[in-house]
Amino acid sequence: MNSPYQALPTPLVPPEKPVISGGEFQPGSVALVGAGPGAADLLTLRALQRLQQADVVLYDHLLDSSILALAPATAERLCVGKRASRHTLPQADINQLLVSLARQGRRVVRLKGGDPLLFGRGGEEMEALAAAGIPCEVVPGISAALGAAASAGLPLTHRDYAQGCSLVTGHRRQGQQTLDWPRHCTPEQTIVVYMGLGEAASIASQLLAHGRAADTPVAVVENACSARQRCLCGSLQNLAALIEQEGISAPALLVIGQIVTLHQKLQAAMAGQHAAASS
Ligand SMILES: C[S@@+](CC[C@H](N)C(=O)[O-])C[C@H]1O[C@@H](n2cnc3c(N)ncnc32)[C@H](O)[C@@H]1O
Repeated sequence: MNSPYQALPTPLVPPEKPVISGGEFQPGSVALVGAGPGAADLLTLRALQRLQQADVVLYDHLLDSSILALAPATAERLCVGKRASRHTLPQADINQLLVSLARQGRRVVRLKGGDPLLFGRGGEEMEALAAAGIPCEVVPGISAALGAAASAGLPLTHRDYAQGCSLVTGHRRQGQQTLDWPRHCTPEQTIVVYMGLGEAASIASQLLAHGRAADTPVAVVENACSARQRCLCGSLQNLAALIEQEGISAPALLVIGQIVTLHQKLQAAMAGQHAAASS
């Protein structure tokens, strides 16, 4: 059969090593590295390179040990915590530690789940480093929403169902105003809520109060991209009950919107089953 596509010529000399353009990791600097949603093979090449060059790695609770194992055996590993409201070290102390380790002339990796600049206080850490005159770089990572979308068959946008997607947090600073819900309430919009388990009932009632339909589909994706991943589907009106009945615990994301109706079909396709077999 004639293909409408032309094969591209294979390069004569394949590159010996992947090309990484991140430059040198200078002693006395900090790399904020995104570790992705869990699986070590979802790290970027640059994240791997920085880990392999690290003298010291500061990491959070949720990080998989297989990712930490990629740093040299000689690198110091410091767990600085972070689990919703249970911080091992207060943020100000983490900032100070980053500054003082860099001032010792070490190559410091601050390893953060997902992407460092999305709901991860990476911006605050950069501000502290900038104030102290410490050079820093950011290595982006696959955020949990993108990992969950890929591994659970939840396309965050789709021409027939969702023209946009909001990434929001369910965890607000004390005294901080609630989200601007009307902005997130158009029916052709997917909402992904990070850190939303504890607030699921109030999030659902806010969305209902601002006009989202009670039967709007919702998926709760727990431990995305790991062998323990679960994706449970329900609707806005039964979201809180679903979380309780199924004993869902962190880390988990709420994915809200019509694209959730595709989950079963796409999950089956990813498992190599024919759509007809799953219906
Ligand atoms: C402090 S935020 C960090 C987000 C991270 N910077 C990112 O880009 O994914 C932690 C929240 O991300 C979500 N999360 C992180 N990893 C996850 C995973 N593997 N599966 C589901 N949700 C995850 C959960 O909502 C969790 O409470």
